Amino acid sequence: MGRLLVINGPNLNLLGTREKDIYGKKSLDEINREVAGEAKKLGFEADFVQSNHEGAIIDYIHSARGRYDVLIINPGAYTHYSIAIRDAIKAVEIPTIEVHLSNIHAREEFRSKSVIAPVCVGQICGFGSDGYVLAVRAAAMFLAAGRGK
Ligand code: DQA
Repeated sequence: MGRLLVINGPNLNLLGTREKDIYGKKSLDEINREVAGEAKKLGFEADFVQSNHEGAIIDYIHSARGRYDVLIINPGAYTHYSIAIRDAIKAVEIPTIEVHLSNIHAREEFRSKSVIAPVCVGQICGFGSDGYVLAVRAAAMFLAAGRGK
């Protein structure tokens, strides 16, 4: 199917211990294992990275150029204000799917704005860790429809 890079941003390394009522009990490693399983089933080669640093996330996005067909990104709080991450996604021209565990539109006002969404194929939010699995399926459908070219 293609190559897929899953990027998680700040504080998502704390999943499973952080605000469990909002973000669930699974650790990022557990979630990534499930996502890897789905990716494999759909014929993707998948890699996973996480960083708490904006510049490191931008470097991951840059180095994805020519190496990955789709990006899945949960930029954490950077979602709401990182024009630099937005510009990086736009620059590399790799179809990108934005994921959030929580429904960012049903929380504090400042979370409902994503500066990343306009440069993405689409956004999946509110389904907890299943959102990443849904994003892998969406990526497969997107590529199968020939929209990745
Ligand atoms: C989040 C939502 C963001 O507002 C928050 O800053 C996060 C997690 C989510 O997955 O629901 O760190 O991206």
